[in-house]
Amino acid sequence: MPDDLLVVTGGAGFIGSAVVRAAFAGGWRVRVLDSGRPDVHGRPPTQADLPDGVELVVGDVRDARTLDAVLAGATAVSHQAAKVGLGVDLQDAPDYAETNVTGTAQLVAAMARADVGRLVLASSMVVYGEGAYRRPSDGAAVRPAPRDEADLAAGRFDPRDPATGEELEPDVVTEDARLDPRSTYALTKLTQEHLAAVWARETGGRVAALRYHNVYGPGMPRDTPYAGVAAIFRSALEHGRAPRVFEDGAQRRDLVHVDDVARAGVAALAWTAHAPAGTSRAFNTGSGTVTTVLELATALSEALGGPPPEVTGAFRAGDVRHVTASSQRAAAELGWRAAVPVSEGLREFAVAPLRA
Ligand SMILES: NC(=O)c1ccc[n+]([C@@H]2O[C@H](COP(=O)([O-])OP(=O)(O)OC[C@H]3O[C@@H](n4cnc5c(N)ncnc54)[C@H](O)[C@@H]3O)[C@@H](O)[C@H]2O)c1
Repeated sequence: MPDDLLVVTGGAGFIGSAVVRAAFAGGWRVRVLDSGRPDVHGRPPTQADLPDGVELVVGDVRDARTLDAVLAGATAVSHQAAKVGLGVDLQDAPDYAETNVTGTAQLVAAMARADVGRLVLASSMVVYGEGAYRRPSDGAAVRPAPRDEADLAAGRFDPRDPATGEELEPDVVTEDARLDPRSTYALTKLTQEHLAAVWARETGGRVAALRYHNVYGPGMPRDTPYAGVAAIFRSALEHGRAPRVFEDGAQRRDLVHVDDVARAGVAALAWTAHAPAGTSRAFNTGSGTVTTVLELATALSEALGGPPPEVTGAFRAGDVRHVTASSQRAAAELGWRAAVPVSEGLREFAVAPLRA
């Protein structure tokens, strides 16, 4: 592995830059391909934004000629470039499709031309839609019915069993759960997984698709329609306002620190060296700790000495109630476990620099 060349697409982004640091520290030579999307970066990325010794190519993953140049001599690719977040409305759909689907199609086609056979793909928990649930009366695993507006308005937030109407209990989601992408973004993340799997089958390549859960940490983007809830709460507190928590605050999430995600990426790269040819495999990438949205808001309020969260009871019908991961597969097969305790990570995150 020493001196092997890793190409990190999106390597100037929040997670990509952490992957770059971790891979570089782990002995990879690293080349970044990033377009410096203007809605992500205030200014185009420069060499000075990257560790000394990491190469930067400012270019677009949708461009075949750029890819041919960037992939020359590469051993593996970590594909982080994407249009992220839930977007504003359906007018975002073409951009999601072009960036995430066409971008990945161009990438795997170029990897086939360049004979690069190892890929780690940044996938997402959004491919699951809702998390996993059990029926309290007999413990059976149940796919919940969509939540009913009348229930939500009455403060009954937990989804119900479509057969009995019973309120369900959340469970952890495993990689073989049914996939249910519910947004354009989610659909494009799942399509990326499928494209990568087709590439692996047709070329004898190997792909690890890391289904990141809620990634947080220094460098997270602040306050955009695409920002995560942790950054939104932090921004409110910085303006002296209480974080406003939807529903009853009991929504369960799996918060995973960006440095842990980056280490998972490096472990997955090692796995691609040994997995059988043609393999594509998904791995949940979560901390294994359940954090409710209210706990998250409270931890940030306390760390910043701000007003306590305000639980509003407001709701958005399409929101996911609970989704937390079992990351056992990554532990067993990649030898990776999250190392940053959520409580500690959130104290650090409360005061860490965010991306403007
Ligand atoms: N942040 C999360 O919580 C989270 C959760 C699940 C999955 N993911 C996935 O992780 C990956 C990284 O996300 P992030 O949060 O770091 O986002 P980010 O926006 O910070 O980083 C993405 C990077 O990709 C670059 N990029 C976008 N389109 C490009 C293109 N066409 N060509 C070249 N570069 C391009 C952007 O300039 C940016 O630097 C994405 O694939 C995302 O879907 C993120």
